[in-house]
Parts: sequence; structure tokens; C-alpha cells
Amino acid sequence: MKTTRSVILSTGASLPRRVVTNDDLSKMVDTSDDWIVQRTGIKERHLADDSETTASLGVAAAKVALAEAKLEPQDIDLIILATSTPDHTFPASATEIQASLGITHGVAFDLQAVCSGFIFALATADKFLTSGSHRRALVIGSETFSRILDWSDRGTCVLFGDGAGAVVLEAREHLGVKAERGVITTHLRSDGRHKGKLYVDGGPSSTKTVGHLRMEGKEVFRHAVGMITDVIKDAFAAASINASDIDWFVPHQANRRIIDASADKLGISRDKVVVTVEKHGNTSAASIPLALDAAVRDGRIKEGQLVLLEAMGGGFTWGSALIRW
Ligand code: ACO
Repeated sequence: MKTTRSVILSTGASLPRRVVTNDDLSKMVDTSDDWIVQRTGIKERHLADDSETTASLGVAAAKVALAEAKLEPQDIDLIILATSTPDHTFPASATEIQASLGITHGVAFDLQAVCSGFIFALATADKFLTSGSHRRALVIGSETFSRILDWSDRGTCVLFGDGAGAVVLEAREHLGVKAERGVITTHLRSDGRHKGKLYVDGGPSSTKTVGHLRMEGKEVFRHAVGMITDVIKDAFAAASINASDIDWFVPHQANRRIIDASADKLGISRDKVVVTVEKHGNTSAASIPLALDAAVRDGRIKEGQLVLLEAMGGGFTWGSALIRW
């Protein structure tokens, strides 16, 4: 039994100013609002302009989360940024965020697990906090996927958006009471044999370029629901609960059809599912903290409720997290 729990104190979000609708995209590639809405549920997405980057969006989301928690940057001793679209190959964008926040103590690093990045970062922060090595963490998911899209490929460019979300976590003593707040259990998986189904065709060591996102959409779809539901069943078993105990299901926002199929397969009622994909598109590692922030801010997610997160992405990587909010 853990003697410490990582409690989520607050959330924050930051979206680029520019909103691009499906109709806007239909002027750039051969697509339509009908096609995109039917296959994905996406209606619009935010896209970064030249002045907005993964680090700047991450800083903005972090500042909101800190203010919500009534904390100063100096109260944070761990920053983990989940991203696949860093400002630079190095240093880690997390250290750029750390510097922008004026923090000179503790540690900041990036974590790369594509769309599962936020779950991986949350699980990592939880292990740091519950080990006793760190006290308060900022976990950020921030992405500018618009920079790695092939804007002539209608099969991928319509699916993604830019943005950032953040949470502040604090280590608190865990007394072993069932209703206590905090991260209850996390489950991470990966299987690198699936690389070719979702990847970027460039990189510093292979091509010396940034590259573009490539995806076999049908193949991703085919694997997604099974992987998602397996890792959620692991969470249910670890916590001795079932689907009816969940107050809110906050999945990675890739595609409405994947979200609905996963919820249905698990027996989670659709009115307990937080969906933001229609407004944000797929923002990869940012999608879960953006959705969490939306549902906290509009009063759906409340203290004491049981919140289930899941994601699946390139690698493949996939994971779940169960939290008493
Ligand atoms: N607009 C209009 N037509 C299009 C578009 C578009 N944007 N994109 C593709 N098409 C056409 C194709 O060319 C094809 O035409 P054809 O029949 O004449 O050859 C037709 O639509 C069907 O294409 P498919 O790729 O077979 O379409 P599918 O039904 O599989 O839907 C989609 C594509 C939406 C990408 C689907 O496969 C999907 O949702 N996959 C999951 C992808 C995903 O969510 N990835 C992210 C998850 S992992 C992560 O988050 C990183």
C-alpha cells in the first residue's frame, strides 16, 4: 500500500488564437465538413501561428493551473512535459517552460509517448511524488502537430489540432481510506512492432529533417479499441471496481467513433464521457488535460469523483489512469 498519494490540485489550458473550421480546410484540400464530421466528429481545431509554440502554449497552460491551485512557480519541484513536437530537438521544451516560469530549482524534462504522452507523464510524476523524492509537479501536455502535418494529405491533416493542458499534482499522506483523493492506479503499455502504422517520416538521426506524420488510419482504428479496453480492465482489476463506479471517463480525443466504441465495449454510459474532439481535433498529448480542464471548469468533474483516463497513440503506446479527483 502506498503511504503517499499524488493529488491533482488544479488544471489549466491554453489554445492558439486561430480557429480553423472544416469548411476552411475544404478550401485547402479535397474534403468536406460532412466527411470529417461523419468519420471523426471533429468540427474545428485551433492552429498555432508563428508566435505560438509548444513551449509558449505549455507556459500559458501551466500559469493557469498554478493560479487555480493558488501556488507560485517556486512551489513546483518537478515539471514533466509530454510532447512529440518540441520547440527544439534539444534542450527539452520542459526546461524552456521551467525558465519561462522563473524556476531554477528541481528538475524538468520531456517525455515522448505521442498521444499517450499525458498518461505516461502523469504515471511518471505519480511515481516521483509517491517515492518521496519530489513534492509538487506540473504535468503538461503541449503540442503543435500542425508543424508536422503534410498539408497536402487530406487523410491526416484534417484530424489534428494544437494546444496545451496542464495539471498540478501534490504529494499528500495516504491514510488508506477508500474515498481518499489522488492517483489510484496507472497502467502503461507499448508495442514497437506497430511503428509503421503511425509515425513521422523524419528525425535528427535518420533523415536530419523534422518529417511529416504518416498514418494507416484503418489499421490504427482496428487496434485502438482493443488496446484501450484492455488497459482499462487492468485499472478496474487493480482497484477492484467496475464500469458503473466511474463518474467521468476522459479518453484521449482522437476520434468520436473510437471514443464511443470504447465506452460501449466497457459498458460506460455515454453521458459520463467527456468529449472535446469536436472543438479541438486530436491534440495528441494535450487532448486529455484539455478535456479535463473543460470538464472541471464547467462543473462536471467535482472533488471526490472517480475519473478514468485513457490514451492510445504512436508506437503503439497506450495507458490508463484512475484518479479520485
Ligand atoms: N476528406 C474526404 N475524403 C477523404 C479524406 C478527407 N479528409 N481522407 C480520406 N478520404 C477518402 C479516401 O481517399 C478514401 O477514398 P477512396 O475510397 O476513393 O479511396 C475514402 O475517403 C475512405 O478512406 P479511408 O482512409 O478508408 O477512410 P476511413 O473510413 O478509414 O476513415 C479515418 C479515415 C477517419 C482516418 C479513420 O481511419 C480513423 O478514424 N482512423 C483512426 C485514426 C486516428 O484516430 N488516429 C489517431 C489515433 S492515434 C493518435 O491519436 C496519434
